[in-house]
Amino acid sequence: MNNSPIGIFDSGIGGLTVAREIMRQLPDESTVYFGDTARVPYGSKSRDTIISFSRQIMKFLMTKNVKAIVVACNTASAFALDTIAKETDIPVIGVIEPGAKAAADTTINKRIGVIATEGTIKSNTYPKVIKSIDPDIQVFSKACPLFVPLVEEGWQYDSVTYEIADRYLYDIMSYDIDTLVLGCTHYPLIRRTIQKVVGDKVTLVSPAYETAKELERILAGEDIRAHANKAEHHFYVSDSVERFRNFAGTILPCEIGPVECVNMEQYN
Ligand code: DGL
Repeated sequence: MNNSPIGIFDSGIGGLTVAREIMRQLPDESTVYFGDTARVPYGSKSRDTIISFSRQIMKFLMTKNVKAIVVACNTASAFALDTIAKETDIPVIGVIEPGAKAAADTTINKRIGVIATEGTIKSNTYPKVIKSIDPDIQVFSKACPLFVPLVEEGWQYDSVTYEIADRYLYDIMSYDIDTLVLGCTHYPLIRRTIQKVVGDKVTLVSPAYETAKELERILAGEDIRAHANKAEHHFYVSDSVERFRNFAGTILPCEIGPVECVNMEQYN
């Protein structure tokens, strides 16, 4: 069991920012990554749809003998984590709790901004979790739906992305926040642009780092850390193999072997 892989999934490529952090912090652990590239984006879909997609993906990952699952997607963490976690015996970890904890630890003036997809913002999960940690913290949220296609287009540092970020973040900046949660897996990829817009006084929090830390704590607690393991990383998608492969190659610290396409209908 200890040297079994960790399953990681996202709606597409964004969760690779979480996979990257897991590979950095837990270099002995093998991983199986699934990107639902045929059905991205999740951010504008309903709770029921996201639960049904997440359930299928969990079934697929279980066939790869994973010892834990990381829901490396904020929208799926907001809508489906509680449901799918009840349907398996292995640990299932989302990105929202670790991100919320990191933000609560970071803020000094107790004013936190959260930017994410429409689904994550509507679910109200970040404010709920942050307030459960410290009820005195005020949370200001903003959906930024155009950020995902801009990243997918490769326009991370384009002036258009800067202008859109400026427009999205204008309101939230008027609330005097000192901490901003990048509550969508794509947003760390435009971190520099966002930082330029919000200025140096605002600390950006990426849940990926804390999620890897939380995963390590859970694996250690369950005594299922890998030992003397030569880590292997396998990648699966539901569509667009080449696009995924090229993107993964630009952000992951490991060799990207073959990427396989999976038909999710067989996991109903
Ligand atoms: N991975 C999604 C998230 O973190 C963003 C992309 C999408 O909308 O599917 O919420």
